[in-house]
Amino acid sequence: MANGNGTVLVEVRGLVKTYKRADGTEVKAVQNIDLDIYKGEIFSFLGPNGAGKTTTISMISGLLHPTQGDAKIGGFSITQQAMSAKKLLGVVPQEIALYPTLSARQNLEFFGKMYGLHGKELSANVDEVLDFTDLKDRAKDRVDTFSGGMKRRVNIGIGLLHKPQLVYMDEPTVGVDPQSRRRILDTVIRLREERKMTVLYTTHLMEEAQELSNRVGIIDKGRIIALGTVGELIQQVGEEDRLVLNIGEQKLPDGLIEKIQTNVQGITRALYDAPVEASDEGGSAHPGHITVYAKRGRRALPQLLQLVNETGLDVLAVEVREPDLEAVFLQMTGRALRD
Ligand SMILES: Nc1ncnc2c1ncn2[C@@H]1O[C@H](COP(=O)(O)OP(=O)(O)OP(=O)(O)O)[C@@H](O)[C@H]1O
Ligand SMILES: [Mg+2]
Repeated sequence: MANGNGTVLVEVRGLVKTYKRADGTEVKAVQNIDLDIYKGEIFSFLGPNGAGKTTTISMISGLLHPTQGDAKIGGFSITQQAMSAKKLLGVVPQEIALYPTLSARQNLEFFGKMYGLHGKELSANVDEVLDFTDLKDRAKDRVDTFSGGMKRRVNIGIGLLHKPQLVYMDEPTVGVDPQSRRRILDTVIRLREERKMTVLYTTHLMEEAQELSNRVGIIDKGRIIALGTVGELIQQVGEEDRLVLNIGEQKLPDGLIEKIQTNVQGITRALYDAPVEASDEGGSAHPGHITVYAKRGRRALPQLLQLVNETGLDVLAVEVREPDLEAVFLQMTGRALRD
């Protein structure tokens, strides 16, 4: 079970899920996913809404039966040896499900019993989880008095109660304020650093995937379209910086793009996007801008600005974007990760 990357904890093979809608049409939510997750890593699924993240997680946690394929956790098949597989696994679902009139402690006790914990072990684990999620002070308060971020923390606590080796967290930062979000991300990192746990994390936010992950699987339309460390994925797009010069509503001088391409050193390509106004059809509004791709963007910038200024054009703003997972998604799909 070992290879150069460490010990494989989760093996996903040929997973497929086809949903049937009430009207008989089929939705191919997950289309043949193969994946290994290694012990001790934070692995993120990064993908837009509807990409198939929750469907995949639900299958590899035994909540949803695959149309095809299987997953093994610690060698136990989730479809054939569900009890043994589930012992190793904690799940933090996307939808928070708590009893609003019960306190944080009572919720944890209730779900702990469902996991088969009782007596001293139950109360010790509940205490420990309240401590780990920083909810001790509010343990006796009803969860319907909690903020979104605190409910999330109870939700996470439930997934950790039976001390699993591995935890799945499905978009745990959605709908929480920035401070709570930071706290949740720190909790995820602590699970790996302090507890040596393995985490399967899903998000549609590239910043989160970038910060947390040892490896990322970019998922779109039910398929993993790119897989690797953040560094490896970014290398795939050529490690180019993107320089974006905002020129607002001004007319683009004739021949400027060609001039930039031939005269500015280190540039691979330059293009112009005309301004787009907000409209009812959706699509994102943006000012007119020139985008330049360059290996060392900051070095090319002075020469670029000088050239543009000479044409009399006012540059309203300049943005230098280093290559990121957003750029990888854009290159792979032709679409932005965020719509
Ligand atoms: N029970 C269902 N019946 C029919 N179609 C479904 C069902 N659940 C999900 N789908 C569809 O399957 C696809 C994948 O959905 P899924 O919820 O797995 O995506 P996701 O990546 O988790 O998205 P999100 O970021 O919105 O949570 C979507 O097209 C969704 O509409
Ligand atoms: Mg989802």
